[in-house]
Amino acid sequence: MDTSQQENPHFPIDFVPAERRIATLAEDVRAGLLSAPRWLPPKYFYDERGAWLFEGICEQPEYYPTRAETALLAANADAILQTTRPAHMLELGSGSSRKTLYLLDAAVRQAKPLTYWPFDVTVEMVRHATSDLVQRYPELQFHALIGDYTGGLGGVILPDEGPRLVVLLGGTIGNFEPDMAVQMVADIRDRLDVGDSFLIGFDRIKDTARLEAAYDDAVGYTAAFNKNVLNVLNRELDADFDPDAFMHRALYNADLSRVEMHLVARRGMTVTVGALNQHIKLHEGESINTEISRKFSPEGIDDLLASGGFETEYRFEDAASDYALVLARAV
Ligand code: AVJ
Repeated sequence: MDTSQQENPHFPIDFVPAERRIATLAEDVRAGLLSAPRWLPPKYFYDERGAWLFEGICEQPEYYPTRAETALLAANADAILQTTRPAHMLELGSGSSRKTLYLLDAAVRQAKPLTYWPFDVTVEMVRHATSDLVQRYPELQFHALIGDYTGGLGGVILPDEGPRLVVLLGGTIGNFEPDMAVQMVADIRDRLDVGDSFLIGFDRIKDTARLEAAYDDAVGYTAAFNKNVLNVLNRELDADFDPDAFMHRALYNADLSRVEMHLVARRGMTVTVGALNQHIKLHEGESINTEISRKFSPEGIDDLLASGGFETEYRFEDAASDYALVLARAV
């Protein structure tokens, strides 16, 4: 292993303590799997294999959000940077920071000093992504943050000089129930001053067939991604799920404007979760809800942002209105 960058990374890395207590995997699984209907939080999809499967999903023809958002960033990054003129850019769930390159390129073209603050849970991924950026952008500054932003942002201390831009891409806000989504937007607003900016991606409401296809690609990446959460439970909680005993199902719930992913038992079975000292009886056809992915109308977007203390300034959309990249201003 090449440790030279770890010993001399050329950028600070800080751990951000959560303000609110974050439930453990065991607590979440106990709460979700033992309730009726059964559910699991989507954040546990993303172990190493899950992150790889998600990358695969993003390349499938049915899964339009990644391509749509990337195109919107490519086309509008200069306008976004010219409007917001950030001295500090904080990205929540920065991951590989691949899509952020468009924003960083635009920042360099503006020739205004900028510090980029990537924030994600996995220290290796953030360290790796940020090391690459440091080499690619000698004219910019970097300050990496490690933590779980669902625990609040009180631990994120951005310098006083503004303006600031917070970025939340991928339509990730759709993974959260309305109350939690408002909470997250309000957490972001709390870190900002009036006039600072928020760039956030939303998947738009569209016809059921396209939504359901996006979450059930023909090659089977989404099905494998969904079932992979059972491997995580087997490994981390000493469980004995047979992933092949489940079917992947993705349904659009038009009343709640959300895609719901499920794992449906193909047969009756008893699953043992060692770490919880539980034997769970599932009957044939019983389902576990593993993810919600909310879809938005322009009004839904404006309402969510307003409840958190932002005013929509500009909504960038592709020609088909499949996806929206929204620039909002803290009010
Ligand atoms: C990463 C949460 C935006 O909801 O579209 C993709 C995750 N799940 N296919 C989404 C996901 C199944 C994705 N987000």
